[in-house]
Amino acid sequence: MSNRPLNVGLVGGGKGAFIVHPHQKAIHFDGTRRVVAGALFPDPKIALEEAANWPYPIKGYGSYDEMIAANASLPPDQKLDYILIVTPNFVHYDPAMKAMKAGIAVFCEKPLCLNLKEANDLVQTARKLKVPFGLAHTYLGHWTSRLSRYIVRSGLLGDVRWVDSYYLQGWLATKLEATGQTQAVWRVDPKRAGGSGCGGDIGTHALMQLRYVTGLNVEQLSAQLETFVQGRMLDDHFTIYCKLSNGGKALVRASQICIGYKNDLGIVVAGTKGTLVWRQEEPESLTILLPGQPDRVYWRGAVTPGDGFLPKDMPADLMAEPTIPSGHPEAFHDAFARLHRCFEADVRKWKEGKPFNSDGAKYANVEDGWMGIAFIETCVKSSKKKGAWTPMPKAV
Ligand SMILES: NC(=O)c1ccc[n+]([C@@H]2O[C@H](COP(=O)([O-])OP(=O)(O)OC[C@H]3O[C@@H](n4cnc5c(N)ncnc54)[C@H](O)[C@@H]3O)[C@@H](O)[C@H]2O)c1
Repeated sequence: MSNRPLNVGLVGGGKGAFIVHPHQKAIHFDGTRRVVAGALFPDPKIALEEAANWPYPIKGYGSYDEMIAANASLPPDQKLDYILIVTPNFVHYDPAMKAMKAGIAVFCEKPLCLNLKEANDLVQTARKLKVPFGLAHTYLGHWTSRLSRYIVRSGLLGDVRWVDSYYLQGWLATKLEATGQTQAVWRVDPKRAGGSGCGGDIGTHALMQLRYVTGLNVEQLSAQLETFVQGRMLDDHFTIYCKLSNGGKALVRASQICIGYKNDLGIVVAGTKGTLVWRQEEPESLTILLPGQPDRVYWRGAVTPGDGFLPKDMPADLMAEPTIPSGHPEAFHDAFARLHRCFEADVRKWKEGKPFNSDGAKYANVEDGWMGIAFIETCVKSSKKKGAWTPMPKAV
């Protein structure tokens, strides 16, 4: 294909929506992708009004069905190259399926969908149709997550014994949903959020960070899903003890009732030779703890191969990924941009009929999404049995 910017269509994002905005900024980050269309709201009239009021010109549609159907008759340079799904969880499956079947690549918000049946369908369809499918696990897009993955997976810390992967928030410490707050209302409703509230919303990020950095999977788990705010139907506190595929152990935990906590996602990986510590609220560095040595703090873009801990032959693509010099902080938007940038590369290859490698190394893929949903379903099952050890289903 020519090097024209990729055309992106939004599903969701109108009327005070949240996550569409970091995404649409990240889409425009490099000048090689742009938002051209949107089905921004469930009510068609409002969807069109919201599109007309979008900060830059886009083609509005009354529904994602219309947007996907209209795509078939557009000239090649105006066709959508991918859609971005930024709707609540119960509106992920349908647009994702329809887009794939219409030959449009999909970048979808997490969690992938509502249940394992939907997740199975999405994996099978993406594989059968060989369509690029990305899942927006934002925090994988930090360069320091890439470096963490390299350090742990290349064995520099020895064998992984223990992981603490967590995401703590405080914004649902009171019954915010009763005020009608847009983001709270659907997140506490099992029909719109899925089988777990806090776990599905942010526990899946903690699980993904663990899997991305260590390359390990959860084989069995013992779960406590708890609800501190009275009258809430889903968990707002989520604590999962896990047995990992290498025999190590992990805690995957999340909470939305920790007053004062904002978006404290972090990971501690304790290996037989040392420990890695990383927090997304300070995403520009990670810390390595080694026995009998001062702590090593590695800043994005300021890493020296062959420094006595890191090897001389660091992967070239990892070393090339930082955008601006360290000390000019990258953050949330940059992480999203890195994901879209890597997804774009796969979409371009796919459009040119070349093999593409949506293997989860650069952004989470549909299989990662399946794993998140399988984890949530297994946690719900275990928690109902008072935390009984429960095996994860075998991957599709
Ligand atoms: N990756 C992250 O860091 C991150 C952060 C926040 C939210 N999320 C995920 O993003 C998704 C959206 O979350 P949010 O907080 O932005 O929600 P939101 O409620 O702020 O926005 C959802 C938008 O979808 C629209 N919508 C609902 N049904 C629709 C339909 N049928 N057609 C078109 N539009 C429709 C709503 O009108 C709204 O504009 C969720 O799946 C959530 O889990 C991810």
